Amino acid sequence: MAVKEIVKYPSPILEKKCKEVVKFDQQLATLLDDMYDTMVAADGVGIAAPQIGVDLQVAVIDMGDGQEVIELINPEVVAIGGSEIDIEGCLSFPNLFGEVERPYYVKVEAQERNGSIYEIEAEDYTARALLHEIDHLNGVLFNTKIKRIVTLEELEAMEEEIEMLDERQGEEA
Ligand code: CO
Repeated sequence: MAVKEIVKYPSPILEKKCKEVVKFDQQLATLLDDMYDTMVAADGVGIAAPQIGVDLQVAVIDMGDGQEVIELINPEVVAIGGSEIDIEGCLSFPNLFGEVERPYYVKVEAQERNGSIYEIEAEDYTARALLHEIDHLNGVLFNTKIKRIVTLEELEAMEEEIEMLDERQGEEA
């Protein structure tokens, strides 16, 4: 268990295709645990191994709200559907946020930390997180996909609006 330093853009490791994981050992388990701790410490919903300087196809996603943590090892997108534009950020790009178009639905085949193969289907923001992290493992960064940059002021205004709506709903309940 350790919080690692996050690799910020630009750095060559962020823009190369990561190596396939072939050993499902204690070292991999430690990497996954360190990635989780680093992601939580940085208040992120996802992190890819190159973001802590490790050239391997490993990513971790935690959407919060009591949802299970997703561990992706050697993930492959096997199906996509629909499309949606939403705002993204990235731990390697402090203070950069922008609108990115991505499929609304995704099906991914990946391996668990013990090496067993599984499939995961996701929609909406979870699908977005999966695709963002899988992009990282292929050396593709979200800044190359931004259609419109969203300023911090815009983002704060949106967050205030959401808080106001939440408060109103709380009063009604
Ligand atoms: Co990212």
